[in-house]
Amino acid sequence: MPSKEEIFQEVQAQTEQILDQHDDRDTILQKICELLDSKLETYDWTGFYIADPEADRELVLGPFVGEPTDHTRIKFGEGICGQAADTLETFLVDDVSKADNYLSCSIHVKSEIVVPVLKDGEFVAELDIDSHQIAAMDETDQQELEKLCAKIAHLF
Ligand code: SME
Repeated sequence: MPSKEEIFQEVQAQTEQILDQHDDRDTILQKICELLDSKLETYDWTGFYIADPEADRELVLGPFVGEPTDHTRIKFGEGICGQAADTLETFLVDDVSKADNYLSCSIHVKSEIVVPVLKDGEFVAELDIDSHQIAAMDETDQQELEKLCAKIAHLF
């Protein structure tokens, strides 16, 4: 079985191929969601929230893979997603039941990571991943997903 590092090596290489082969931003984001969902077994919902250019400090749901969510718009500061947008920091939550500012998408979700996409230091979007396992994501996921988000920042 490949290690998580090896899996992410493949993910990074395939992300670059997707970027080479496609021009449309949402097509690229959808393919990245599908890639992460297919390679990382513990990822149960993978999607992007995008800073809505037409609204003040509000996220709008973009491409995703997984169950539909009620949270199609989230204000900056609300939930894990809104806090990541507000602080520009990655949120790695091992146990969502212990998080006090959390918006539940499904009763099955146990852990979550939200990684901001920054363009010239400004928040433009974020990658949100939910898992049905406690502490499914660790520092390796964080580092690799931050690297991936840096690769796609120019799309916004
Ligand atoms: N759990 C997130 C909401 C988005 S869903 O996970 C898809 C939050 O607390 O912001």
